[in-house]
Amino acid sequence: MPLHRALYVSDAVGDAATSLLILAEILGESERNNRRDGLTGVLMRHDGRFLQAIEGHRADVDRLLDRLRADPRHENLRLLSDQDVPARLFPAWPMTLAQMTPEAARILNGAALDELSPHRAEALLTTAAQALPIPA
Ligand SMILES: Cc1cc2nc3c(=O)[nH]c(=O)nc-3n(C[C@H](O)[C@H](O)[C@H](O)COP(=O)(O)O)c2cc1C
Repeated sequence: MPLHRALYVSDAVGDAATSLLILAEILGESERNNRRDGLTGVLMRHDGRFLQAIEGHRADVDRLLDRLRADPRHENLRLLSDQDVPARLFPAWPMTLAQMTPEAARILNGAALDELSPHRAEALLTTAAQALPIPA
């Protein structure tokens, strides 16, 4: 079965824009569900928006996108890309939080997350993920 990757930007709602607790809750659910579903990816929160990459089998990615569209912690989910891909970019993480490192900020170059082309958004996430430790 081919691999699929979706990349989206959404607007955080209320406290979800700034709360560490809400972020921790999202990451906890994500790690548990994504392990079960064979999904991997990276999540970034920056300036009130989320940018997330989700990769796995298409049916599992689609099921997660349906849940994400119904989640009141964010809104206006817009897909930047949604396509079959040859390999995972983030095989090490069921889901992890990527910070806006100086290297990633250079790619963002002052733009908002929802102004990025799919290619730049992917480069931003892969660059930010390079700063993360690979889990054992
Ligand atoms: C920005 C954001 C990213 C999320 N990422 C994931 C994810 O990668 N995997 C996941 O299962 N849920 C994720 N969620 C949570 C889902 O929207 C949904 O609440 C959850 O999957 C429901 O899980 P449950 O059926 O175990 O209650 C995310 C939510 C937000 C707001």
